[in-house]
Amino acid sequence: MRTPIYDFLEKYAASGVARFHMPGHKGRGRLGAERYDITEITGADNLYLADGIIEESENNATRLFGTAHTFYSTEGSTLAIKAMLKLATGKNKRILAARAVHKSFVYAAALLDLDVEFIYGNDTCHYADSRISPDAVFAALREHTPAAVYITSPDYLGNISDVEKIAELCHQFGTLLLVDNAHGAYLNFLNPSRHPIALGADMCCDSAHKTLPALTGAAYLHISKMAPKDLVYAARGAMSLFASTSPSYLTMASLDLCNAYIEDSYSDRLKKTVSELFRVKRALGDAGISFLDTEPLKLVLPLSQFNLTLSDFYDHLSKCNIEPEMIDSEYAVFMVSPENTARELDRLSSSILSIPLNNGEKRDTPVGVIRPKRRVSIREAVFSESERVAVADAVGRICAAPTVACPPAVPIVISGEEIDGQAASLFSHYGLQYVEVLR
Ligand SMILES: Cc1ncc(COP(=O)(O)O)c(C=O)c1O
Repeated sequence: MRTPIYDFLEKYAASGVARFHMPGHKGRGRLGAERYDITEITGADNLYLADGIIEESENNATRLFGTAHTFYSTEGSTLAIKAMLKLATGKNKRILAARAVHKSFVYAAALLDLDVEFIYGNDTCHYADSRISPDAVFAALREHTPAAVYITSPDYLGNISDVEKIAELCHQFGTLLLVDNAHGAYLNFLNPSRHPIALGADMCCDSAHKTLPALTGAAYLHISKMAPKDLVYAARGAMSLFASTSPSYLTMASLDLCNAYIEDSYSDRLKKTVSELFRVKRALGDAGISFLDTEPLKLVLPLSQFNLTLSDFYDHLSKCNIEPEMIDSEYAVFMVSPENTARELDRLSSSILSIPLNNGEKRDTPVGVIRPKRRVSIREAVFSESERVAVADAVGRICAAPTVACPPAVPIVISGEEIDGQAASLFSHYGLQYVEVLR
């Protein structure tokens, strides 16, 4: 497969051309990557008017993902989520969304003045668990006529919803299904594909950088072949509405190289990694260690089973020279990819196996999901005057910009909702001391 963006940058870097254009580093600097870091010079195409090397590279990604078109984002899924919601909504601004949304959804809702109705899953789960049942979607669709249903699958904890059934329901009710698939770019390369587009979603975003070997910020907006055709024509406009006019060529080049990487037997490497991680999980299971039933590249351990405090758990991993994706008071999340070596996986396994288990003692876990009352619209809350107050003083006040633990950047209370006592205790439980509230 040709890698047109990377090839262009390589040739330009080798040419010795005197750069009288942006950026100011002129191709020189300590990072070493400056030589490939250019702007829209002659021949370099333009992400938001692509008809040259960027279009050719996106066409390669389009073929790999089997979409009507796959658009590049150099500003993560965060940008693709805003664009996707802009594309789905016109006069009808109603969105049915599975509750545990990433913060970027809240900002998109504020910018687009969306009328969001949340669909709730299991109330006793972790607040970042975004699983939603087809039955809950069906019930919501009977009550509302949304422009789209929006779900997050997989979520930060690796939980997957039944995208196929939810897509069928959406289409039965004549609405679109949008999926935040930030954590699941690789799902397309399992056999069979478990990618949302293959399962019937109309649009989805993938953070290439989360699971594929791509630079931070590299992401896709995918539009399905089954989706209305005009979405593809409008997509670049929707992206550029929210994006910087200086998308990073380094990030685009890494997406470009990623196409060739995927074509070159990625599915086989992925399969091997999935079975190596499965082997690790089996060894943990044999030793009585439990883990969540997640998408195949995550290992998520409930911490209540270990006889260690949170900070001792973290120190233990540190001593084993292991850095997890996230640890909060409930779970430790480890993200694996084919770029992890077999030795690293062994180290992960032996470090977990050496942690003492508690003897069945139950620890208190907080109520997971709460259903705060909406007082004003998301847009009004995000754009009104606000102040920062201690969590204890926030009870009875209205949430302004969402205050989140990052990761997972999933708000416990969404902008415009009232913060009650339960919300305040969840904030404290997850280490949040201050929140933004309306004045
Ligand atoms: C579920 C989810 N959606 C969206 C995003 C935003 O992705 P990005 O960092 O690529 O902008 C994240 C980031 O962690 C996420 O976890």
